[in-house]
Amino acid sequence: MNIAGFLKSRRGNWKVRRAESRLLRRFTGIADEISESQWEESLANPTEFYQHCFHYFHTRLPKSLREHRAYFESNGRGFGERSFHVMWFLLFRKFAPENFLEIGVFRGQTLSLAAMLARHFKFDASMQGISPFSPAGDAVSKYRHDLNYYEDTLENFAHFSLPAPGLLQAYSTDRMAAELIASQEWSCIYIDGNHDYEIARRDWDLCASNLRTGGLIVLDDSGLTTSYAPSPILSTAGHPGPSRLAKEVDRTHFREILQVGHNRVFQKTAL
Ligand SMILES: C[S@@+](CC[C@H](N)C(=O)[O-])C[C@H]1O[C@@H](n2cnc3c(N)ncnc32)[C@H](O)[C@@H]1O
Repeated sequence: MNIAGFLKSRRGNWKVRRAESRLLRRFTGIADEISESQWEESLANPTEFYQHCFHYFHTRLPKSLREHRAYFESNGRGFGERSFHVMWFLLFRKFAPENFLEIGVFRGQTLSLAAMLARHFKFDASMQGISPFSPAGDAVSKYRHDLNYYEDTLENFAHFSLPAPGLLQAYSTDRMAAELIASQEWSCIYIDGNHDYEIARRDWDLCASNLRTGGLIVLDDSGLTTSYAPSPILSTAGHPGPSRLAKEVDRTHFREILQVGHNRVFQKTAL
């Protein structure tokens, strides 16, 4: 990164931190616990629920998980938003998935969070990522070129003393990736690779047919077609491709159970 890029990113980070402090000042005391019966509220009032998750992050989430987020917030190691750590915490607490697949790994923030959550809740879970581990982007995303993404992901796992995950260096549309996805029934899949509609659609179709009944697909960047109103500095509602896809999800086979910002969670209800 050149000096102008460095300064721009530092200014951006400072603005985000300031907006976070402002949002936090709107709350007093410790956030209420989020029970499963409240998940439906996330669909009816996604903006309010997102803010509850933000408050929860700062006042209830275990310190080790907040530190994990802080690590990925530094040095541009990760995307996402603090409330998403709460979403994964709620999902792993309730479902304890025995295996987890992430399409689109970047530097390993979510994959390592999943591994940390399994450790936190004391259950065994296998972790698998599929990603080109290159700067490959799409119509709405660009990634830096000066990084070995594969080694970096492994280093980030090691930083938290987590066992190395399974990593397949491939595009999700490659034959090897399709074979890996079809090689077992998955409990939880996070789709966050290429955001172009056609690719996201292919990812969904392949993942949906290899998900066990009761399993979850979390679709990133898919909130544009909901009433979720992001805060301009802190959060985004997502991208057109995944948002269109979310609207098309077959509701006779999937039930939407949770929304945290632009992440929407679908549970497979039938084969
Ligand atoms: C937004 S980043 C993922 C962030 C990551 N999920 C996390 O939570 O930290 C998207 C990633 O998907 C990768 N990617 C792009 N095209 C892909 C494809 N066809 N299949 C899998 N991954 C892809 C990009 O290179 C990038 O690493």
